Amino acid sequence: MSKTSDPRLIVALDLPSTDEAWTLTETVGDAVDYYKIGLQLFPLGGMDLCRRLKAAGKSVFLDFKLHDIPATVEKATRSITQGGADLLTVHAEPPVMRAAVAGCEGSDLQILGVTVLTSYDDAMLTEMGYAYGARDLVLRRVEQALECGVHGIVASAHEAAEIRQRFGDGFHIVTPGIRPAGADIGDQKRVATPAKALSEGASHLVVGRPVNAAPDPAQAARDIVAEMQSVPA
Ligand code: C5P
Repeated sequence: MSKTSDPRLIVALDLPSTDEAWTLTETVGDAVDYYKIGLQLFPLGGMDLCRRLKAAGKSVFLDFKLHDIPATVEKATRSITQGGADLLTVHAEPPVMRAAVAGCEGSDLQILGVTVLTSYDDAMLTEMGYAYGARDLVLRRVEQALECGVHGIVASAHEAAEIRQRFGDGFHIVTPGIRPAGADIGDQKRVATPAKALSEGASHLVVGRPVNAAPDPAQAARDIVAEMQSVPA
């Protein structure tokens, strides 16, 4: 029998207000257990929304992509643990990741490293002074992330298989850019279907517009869950 939700599905609350975000979670109901709050909602009560979702029994991924000196990242991470969230992103630079890992000690918060923003291509990385192209920089940073003790990384479905092959199974790969077959791609460039992303090695899928902009978000989420359940965890 198929389950209502799938713990590997994270729906992005990319909406202009926490009221609209909360309404979406009520509309979606039992079909989704995990939500992502990003920088759009952070200054508008994102941490209160996090607490409210946790009190309602949901899991929360805070996509804040911290990047600062180690002392500040450690203290910010410690403050963030007070919201009870499950996942937090930081940029995958070793001093940043080590500080975040120290800051979440004693809590249930887990840290994800963002390797290379998907908005950067090889030419932009060269212009910024990096000696690596995007693929090589992603792999180098995954290795560093695991050495720093983070709990996982954010990567596209296209990178996931190679990352699993090289570095094994003992960490999360959280994958955005998910589009059910036939869905509008929008501004995403390297997309995969839910089943494809899971079979490439993703442990969690981040889905935004295919659910939060759907005419029937609950049905859209249920359809994605049904597809995900064809790939066992
Ligand atoms: O609407 P869509 O499904 O494209 O939303 C994807 C979500 O994942 C957005 O919240 C976006 O900011 C986030 N994300 C991404 N690519 C990354 C990291 C995060 O699309 N590399």
